[in-house]
Amino acid sequence: MTGRQLHILAVSGSIRAESKNRALLEAAQLLAPPGARITLDWSLVTLPHFNPDLDTIDGHTRPPEAAHWRERVGAADGLLISSPEYAHGIPGVLKNALDWLVSSTTFPGKPVASLCASAMSVFGPAQLRETLTTMNARFVDDASIVIPVPGAGATSATIAADTELAKALRDALDAFLGAIERGS
Ligand SMILES: Cc1cc2nc3c(=O)[nH]c(=O)nc-3n(C[C@H](O)[C@H](O)[C@H](O)COP(=O)(O)O)c2cc1C
Repeated sequence: MTGRQLHILAVSGSIRAESKNRALLEAAQLLAPPGARITLDWSLVTLPHFNPDLDTIDGHTRPPEAAHWRERVGAADGLLISSPEYAHGIPGVLKNALDWLVSSTTFPGKPVASLCASAMSVFGPAQLRETLTTMNARFVDDASIVIPVPGAGATSATIAADTELAKALRDALDAFLGAIERGS
C-alpha cells in the first residue's frame, strides 16, 4: 500500500455490550495494515430519530449528533459496517443512522463495505447493500462478506487469534483498502 494512511470509520449495527459485530470491527482494528487507521464510531447509540423536518437544506435545524455523524462519515476515506440481521432486515438503529446520511452531499461515492458476524444472516446483508447502493455509496462487494463468529463470548482478541477468522477479515480489509486506493 502506498501514499497517505487511509482513515476508515467502523460502525456496528448492534449496540449491545457483547456484540459479535462490534468485536469483529475491533478485531479489524487489531489486524489493520499500517496503511490504514480504523476508528470505531458510536453515533448509533445517541442519534435522535430521523425526521426530515429537522434535516433542512442549510442544516440549521439538524440535531448536533446528526451533524457530527455526517461530518465524521464525510471525512472518512471509507465506511466499514458490521451488522446483525434483525427480523430479516437491518437493525433500526443502523437504518436510522443511514437515513441521516441520505441528504448528505459528501456521501455519494463513499466507499462502503459490509460485514456480518452471523452465518445465518442472508436478508440483512442484502437489505443493507440495497439501501447503500440506493444512497449512491460505492459498495465494495469483494470486501463485503459474512464472517461467522462462533458462540457467545467472542472478543477482538479471540477473533484475531483464530487463523480462519483473521484471514477472512484481513482479506476483506485488503479488498476494501485496495478498492479505495484504486478508486474502483
Ligand atoms: C430482535 C432480533 C431479531 C433477530 N432476527 C434474526 C433474523 O431474522 N435472522 C437471523 O439470522 N438472526 C436474527 N437474530 C440473531 C442476530 O442476528 C444474531 O444473534 C447476531 O449475531 C447478533 O449480533 P450481535 O452479536 O452483534 O449483537 C435476531 C436477533 C434479535 C435480537
